[in-house]
Amino acid sequence: MENLKTSPAYPLWHPFTPQVGTMAPLPVVSGKGARLYLNDGREIIDAISSWWVSIHGHSHPAFAEALFKQANTLEQVIFAGFSHKPALDLVTKLLPLLGDSYKKAFFSDNGSTAIEVALKMALQYFWNKGETERTKVIALTGSYHGDTFGAMSVAEPSAFTAPYKALLFDVDYLDIPYCTDIHLPLNEADYACIKVFQDLIHQNHAAFIFEPFIQGASGMQMYKVALLEQLVAIAQKAGILCIADEVMTGFSRTGKLFAIHHLVSKPDIVCLSKALTGGILPMGLTICNLPIWEAYNTSDLYKTFFHGHSFTANPLACACANTSLDLLLSADYCHYLADIEESNNEFKFLIEQKGYPVITRACGPILAFELLQGSPTSYVHEARHILYAEFLKRNVLLRPLGNVVYILPPYTITKPDLNLVYKAIEEVFDLLFKPSI
Ligand SMILES: Cc1ncc(COP(=O)(O)O)c(C=O)c1O
Repeated sequence: MENLKTSPAYPLWHPFTPQVGTMAPLPVVSGKGARLYLNDGREIIDAISSWWVSIHGHSHPAFAEALFKQANTLEQVIFAGFSHKPALDLVTKLLPLLGDSYKKAFFSDNGSTAIEVALKMALQYFWNKGETERTKVIALTGSYHGDTFGAMSVAEPSAFTAPYKALLFDVDYLDIPYCTDIHLPLNEADYACIKVFQDLIHQNHAAFIFEPFIQGASGMQMYKVALLEQLVAIAQKAGILCIADEVMTGFSRTGKLFAIHHLVSKPDIVCLSKALTGGILPMGLTICNLPIWEAYNTSDLYKTFFHGHSFTANPLACACANTSLDLLLSADYCHYLADIEESNNEFKFLIEQKGYPVITRACGPILAFELLQGSPTSYVHEARHILYAEFLKRNVLLRPLGNVVYILPPYTITKPDLNLVYKAIEEVFDLLFKPSI
């Protein structure tokens, strides 16, 4: 596989992967818990839940059982004009968990499509109401919302979006001050940001989209709950719909089941994906409040939400989502999450004591280290290759976001495995920083 990767004979084209100059993809044969097993007998600890999805670890038996049962009952059905119990069960359970104001759920296929649906839903809401001048979106600098065109438009312009710049729609960006603890009180920079936001908004804005408190892809960058609280309140007062992208933060990533639970002002639309199905099958959900749906509550065909995918609300994916939610709500997971958070805090303290040139950020089961060496923080920072390779040498999958190393493990990871992840990080930091400390 190694030699083949850069050759036209190798038939796979892997995502986010330069075709030349990167390591050959590792052949995975199976997975169990936090471990991935390679075809040469190596065992790799998956410390990032395989792109933030596998919260229960790999090959959890509850999903095999749920899938078997569902596949023997109903594996797929067109979701226009037909419905099914797994979808209804899921939404009936999930909406009250999100909060009283969330009344309607629209299925799609992944995080990017959940965002596309949210944007279209918000824009058409105003169109249906005859407020056709409301067509602009506000987004945050540093944001990432996926790889489809709408999602790319509302993201921070980056290497990911540069080739398509001319085709992306125009967005107003709000520069957001970062912090290391989302619960800190507001400071001068936050108040200045609020002022800029107040001056920025106008009657042509339809929606304000954000990743609540933690911008994952831009390096687990955090900003304050109190800041978002004010921004959402200001936007909603001006009639702008607020879209919370909980694709990464949802399902207990921020110390609460959903990040919006930290807020008093409730966003109008919430996007979920990734851990929604426990990472077993792809699925996206866009959830909204009743006033939004009311704008579509008409027999006028031209006010229909004309959006859908072949696999909308696939019953197998719904069965997995139901299973995942049951597991996550069980008492065990409170302990797992508390244990990870406690261990992370101890390790964070240790790293801080060692005086490496890093900024640490922690929230729920997330622990991130921003390395202050070389060029400014970015996804394309030169440290990414060294770090990734060094961790893999130690049999740990950590896929740094440029110069930001972060842990986002399956909630079921064992303490010994978590300790191996910490050991690998400490060793690699020693290797990188020894000469400078
Ligand atoms: C906050 C956020 N939104 C949207 C997406 C896109 O999700 P997907 O990769 O499932 O399309 C991601 C993916 O990392 C994300 O982190």
